[in-house]
Formats: sequence, C-alpha cells, structure tokens
Amino acid sequence: MTATEDLTTPPPSLIATVARAGQQRVFRFWDRLDAAARAQLIRQLEAVDWDGLPALQALVAEHRRGIAAAVIGDLSAATTPPCVRLGADDSRADAERLGAGALGAGRIGAVLVAGGQGSRLGCSGPKGLYQVGPVSNASLFELLLGRLVAVRRRYGRDVPLAIMTSAATDAGTREFLARHGHCGLDPRCVLVFQQAELPALEAASGDLLLDGPGRLATAPDGHGGMLVALRKCGGLEWFASQGVEHVATFQVDNPLAMPLHAEFLGHHLRSAADFTTQVIRKREPGERVGVVIRHGDSHRVVEYSDLPAALAAECGPDGGLRFHAGSIAVHAFSVAFLERAVAERTALPLHLAFKAVPFLDAAGDRVVPSQPNAIKFERFIFDIMPLARRICVVEVEAAAGFAPLKNPPGATADAPEHVQAALVARARAMLARAGIEVAAGVAVELDAATVIDERDLAAVLPPGTRIDEPRLVRGGAIR
Ligand code: UD1
Repeated sequence: MTATEDLTTPPPSLIATVARAGQQRVFRFWDRLDAAARAQLIRQLEAVDWDGLPALQALVAEHRRGIAAAVIGDLSAATTPPCVRLGADDSRADAERLGAGALGAGRIGAVLVAGGQGSRLGCSGPKGLYQVGPVSNASLFELLLGRLVAVRRRYGRDVPLAIMTSAATDAGTREFLARHGHCGLDPRCVLVFQQAELPALEAASGDLLLDGPGRLATAPDGHGGMLVALRKCGGLEWFASQGVEHVATFQVDNPLAMPLHAEFLGHHLRSAADFTTQVIRKREPGERVGVVIRHGDSHRVVEYSDLPAALAAECGPDGGLRFHAGSIAVHAFSVAFLERAVAERTALPLHLAFKAVPFLDAAGDRVVPSQPNAIKFERFIFDIMPLARRICVVEVEAAAGFAPLKNPPGATADAPEHVQAALVARARAMLARAGIEVAAGVAVELDAATVIDERDLAAVLPPGTRIDEPRLVRGGAIR
C-alpha cells in the first residue's frame, strides 16, 4: 500500500482481525485521518502480532494482580561466577595475542545497540548524537565509532559494525552517519538495521492505546529484539559473508566501552565461550547495573530493578558484596551461538515496564499522564545466557571501561558531567602511564580514532612532556 492511496475503509480482513481481538477502538478516529495517516495506521496494525497479543494481555493481567512478571526465583544457592580480571590474569599475554590475531584476520564484528529512546536523559533524538567529549565536544557516536577506526588503524582490518536503531532513532541515526562520513568508517562496513516495536497496553484493561488519531502507542522491543531484527535484515549472513566468526556488542550510552579490547576478545576465544561478558565490581549495593549470577551450571543476569535491596546489599565471605559482578552490557558472542539463539529466540522472556504513556481519550484529546498507566514490553539480549554452553566473565576496571550516560545534567549519577569526568580521568591515567604530565585541573581527552592505549602516544608525546592547556590528544604511528 502506498501512502497516497485513498482508503475509505480499512481492509476488511484487518477489520475482522482487530474485531476478534476486541480492539475496534483503534479505528475510532478513522474519519479524521487523511490518506497518508490512514495508510500509516494500517501499516502499524498489520505489524501487530495479533496471535501474540493475548499473551501480552495475560502478562498485563498478572501485573494488575500484583504477580511479579520477572520471576527471579530462589537465589539462596546462587553465587557470583569466577571472573577473569582484565590485565591481571596470568593468561593475559596469550589472550591479547589471540584477540589481536582475530582482529587482524577480520574474524571480529560488532553490534551497537542504539534503539533506546533516551527518555531518562531527556533527549528527543537518538542518544548517539549527544555531545559529551570533554574537549572535542564529540558525540557518543563519534566517540564509539572512532574506536573502531582506531582498531582498523592498529590491526589493519575493518570491523564490520551493525547498528541497531528503532522507529524513534532510525532516521536521525542514518542522517547523522551520512552527514559525518560514518565517523571515519567505511560505509560498506556499516549496516544500520531497525528493531521491531511492541504495542504498549493500557494497564487497567490490557487494550491497545492510541498515541495520536492514527498512531498506536508502541515502544522498541528491547535490545533482545536484536536477534529477530538481525535475522530479518540478513545481518548474520552479512557478518558471515565477511568472515566474521564472533561479534562484540555494546550500548550507545557508554563512551568508555571496550568491546574490541584485544585481551577481552582473547579470553572469549581461549575459553571457547559462546557468550563472554564484561563486568565491573559493583561499587555500592544501589548501583544501577544488573548482576551476573551462577545457579548450578547456569548463568544469567538479574536486572538491578529485579534484585531485592536486601540481596543487593548482602555481603559474601570476603566482606564484599555477594553479587558483585555488575553487568556493563559489553558482550562477545560466537556467530554460531547467535544463530542457535535466533532459532530458540522464543525462549527470551518478556520484561514488563509500568510507564506513563501519553494517549488519546474517548474525545480524542491527548492525555499526558503523570502516573504510570501502561505496560511496555522488552526482551533483553542477556537472557540468552542460559542457552550458552560455555560462559566467560571478564572483570574490567570501571575507570577504564564504564561511564554510562543515562541522566540529564545535574543528576547525582550517570549525568554528562560524570561521563566527561570519567573520560578526562581515563585520559590522565593513560598519559601518566606514558610518562606525560598534565597540569592539575586541565581537561585532556584521548582522540578515539587514534588512541587505543599508551602505545599510540609514544610517537607524538615523548615521556617527560607536560600538558598545561586543555587538549585533545591524538595518537601517532606505533613504533
Ligand atoms: C542496562 C542493562 C543493565 C546494565 C546497564 C549498564 C538492560 C535491560 N539493562 O540498563 O543490566 O547493567 O545497562 O549501563 O539493558 N536499547 C535498544 N533498544 C531497546 C532498549 C534499549 O537498543 O529497545 C539500548 C539503548 O539504546 C541503550 C541500551 O540498550 O544503549 C540500554 O538500555 P537502557 O534501557 O538504558 O538500560 P539500563 O536500564 O540503563
């Protein structure tokens, strides 16, 4: 159907489907819609999984009755799995060689999840456009994609990158990439693909909601939607056709993320893991990170919102937190495992979020509720962990690999100023290791596209150099 086709009534088969589901209200404002809006509503309704709707409604009914949808189960016997410490394990040199070899052989690809709506941060466009470079003012996309440029520079091979967007972020992301020359990456090595949407349902009734006269209220289906979306767009074949055997995934909100760290990838390869994940040692019980736990032979991530406060605060035998392996959402998967997980994707549970979702009331007036009124549904990629035959958990220093941007300026944690401070601190620490002095209080930033570690600094800044002014430090050729 084209946007200009004149539709006097919706297609009869769609009317029948919608009526069977008892959702005729979605056509309430049909008469007010022009042809383009009618076509858009029909497209949206045709994309609804009508067979799956009763299952979503059943979850809403359970939520109403106060039954926790995310059943975390009995964690009394659960433990924190052993973690390999990045840079501190006896096997680190071997691991680094292996990882570097795989990068140099083009066996590694990457997936960046950038479909979230950034609602906590309060930004309207894609979060990746948010400018957070402390000296460069570079955006999250430039900081993150720049690191792939640095990897190409060092290892001599492109890392094919798939970027997952959503309905809300797709156009803005594509436009940004085109305008910024794909942040220095070869456009042929960048695949932008869009995740699906799931309808938001009214909590009181389980009904679909209209967000506008011709628009259903929907939300992206969570980063777990990556599996189906990658399959649908041919992404797994795209990776395989370029010789990629493993992909590292990371989130758009963390400019310190190190998905392509050679040693991290090497631990993944050495342990022949299906699924390797980076964690930090949780710094306090309330830190908003999921925790990796082991239950018998099975591993999984328990989301921070699902972990009861008492358990989050419980101490282990060493006096530290019992569940301390904080997930920073940087993972490595074998492509073979992802293919298996795609086949078993229905095993991914739906997580419910009770949110304030704007809607049209019976008179057609838009209501912006101040209290949650609707349920949104998401699948999480880390829920494929129990399907993995072998898991490897790699602990990284938060100062080196984790500074997420979640909240607006002025918030107590994970705000732009915290992220900038973390970028400056990481730069200062690396410069100090390279024997370069930075005057107190001076902001320095590492150029993402040319600096991976201190080896990139030696050619441009000899030990003993002093930096007195704010500076974006670019790396030189490694000697
Ligand atoms: C997430 C993790 C949490 C982890 C923390 C680290 C989940 C459910 N939880 O929490 O375990 O400790 O990050 O910072 O992920 N996204 C999509 N599509 C979607 C939803 C999200 O691409 O439909 C992307 C977002 O763009 C973002 C990332 O996933 O890059 C994380 O989403 P967000 O909802 O911000 O997760 P957190 O609650 O911060």
